Amino acid sequence: MRKPMLAGNWKMNNTRDDAIHFVLNVDSKLPTSGVDCVICAPAIILRDLVKRAEVLKIGGQNMNENDYGAYTGEISAFMLKDTKVDYVIIGHSERRAYYNETDEKINAKIKKALETELKPIVCVGENLAEREDGLTNAILELQIVKAFRGVTIDNPDNIIVAYEPIWAIGTGKSASSQEAEDACKFIRSLLAKNYGAEIADRMRILYGGSMKPSNVKELVSQPDIDGGLVGGASLDEESFIALCKACAEKK
Ligand code: 13P
Repeated sequence: MRKPMLAGNWKMNNTRDDAIHFVLNVDSKLPTSGVDCVICAPAIILRDLVKRAEVLKIGGQNMNENDYGAYTGEISAFMLKDTKVDYVIIGHSERRAYYNETDEKINAKIKKALETELKPIVCVGENLAEREDGLTNAILELQIVKAFRGVTIDNPDNIIVAYEPIWAIGTGKSASSQEAEDACKFIRSLLAKNYGAEIADRMRILYGGSMKPSNVKELVSQPDIDGGLVGGASLDEESFIALCKACAEKK
């Protein structure tokens, strides 16, 4: 019912040449059905990638919530849309931690992205101390409620949630498939409270945090995990292809 998605988040990696080579090498080897394959790349090379990608879809990693103005260094939703990307990551934990992104800002960005017809990939997740204190669900609830406050969902295909436990990001230590499933299922129940079960059942929820070819099958075999948001392992061509294929085969 839900089409799986595998989105690579390249973060601040890859030059223009490296990125173009990646897309040219990978695009024809990706599954053409059963999964949406996405690369979220640095803004400066998005247009170059969009031009060369056929199967692959391209996204940004962040955007500003304002339309235009004196925001040095920032990129608006309209500017992203102008590069012809489809997706944009919003509220990644690295943005929350290093650039003071609040839930309120994230909420405004989601609204602006949807208004601009960009598909937001909204990131939520607890840190290690919160998990150890048994606060995972409380944190997820706060983040989801605040992120989605006043957000109207016309088409559930166009807004994606990524559960990314901070302690699993870049550490090599993924959440277990049960931990990831529990969190994704809980997120879906929160979305159902807001939007009703029918919409929540159609929304894709991804897992992110040290996902790689060796653990992707087990993770995406879980009923509420609709794919992955992948950092490190999305930088390697072979592993990105393997991740996309595993998601396409999700039962
Ligand atoms: P890693 O896959 O490198 O752990 O990163 C996950 C992530 O932050 C994706 O947005």
